[in-house]
Amino acid sequence: MISSCASKSINLVRGGMRAIATSAVQRSDHLFVHRDTPEDNPNIKFEFTPENKKRVEAIISIYPEGYKRAAMIPLLDLAQRQYGWLPISAMQKVAEILEVSHMRVYEVATFYTMFLRKPTGKYHIQVCTTTPCWLRGSDEIMECCKKTLGVEVGEMTKDGLFTISEVECLGACVNAPMVAINDDYYEDLTAKDMQQILADFKAGKPSPPGPRNGRYASEPAGEPSSLTEEPKGPGFGLQPALA
Ligand code: FES
Repeated sequence: MISSCASKSINLVRGGMRAIATSAVQRSDHLFVHRDTPEDNPNIKFEFTPENKKRVEAIISIYPEGYKRAAMIPLLDLAQRQYGWLPISAMQKVAEILEVSHMRVYEVATFYTMFLRKPTGKYHIQVCTTTPCWLRGSDEIMECCKKTLGVEVGEMTKDGLFTISEVECLGACVNAPMVAINDDYYEDLTAKDMQQILADFKAGKPSPPGPRNGRYASEPAGEPSSLTEEPKGPGFGLQPALA
């Protein structure tokens, strides 16, 4: 009896361990390992432009002597802004500048999804689909992007202009649904707005970022609904003797 209970417990533990070891379903459009491709391999040379070399020096000079590896993220970002995305040769260049092993840089570049490790369109459309944006219609925004551009999430248009990514909350939930295009946020969107924004980008006249429903920022969409009375004067709520 004891031995049968023990073997059942062992099986349960084994079952549990198997469950823990099971890989999660891969839903991200990011590949976390590097595979050499014709457009991304260590033989493709990467060099910072003379202008960016000055920026590299300025960034490194911010950090104390002996801590220049702290400049890794800003340098990777600079390389990505120069190249349009982050090829492995750019990562190796950053490693060389910071005098660290290649692996130290790969670890950082593969951890942060802001680093784009495959060819990415000139305009990177990041559609937020987290709960507040989803409740406010991010499905329609995503559908509109896919239909208008003729590509799926993670793909780039043939003209190299657009890449669509699905992202988690970008911190502008009060203006949901929203998308980020490169460094700018487009907010309070409808599918019609999205179509117009894409058409403007295609025509080479990017529309101004910000809310599209007439709001200036994240103020109430209609009339204020709280803090509407006159503020009480100083001393409000104190005991009469202290007032
Ligand atoms: S949920 Fe979309 S910005 Fe927060």
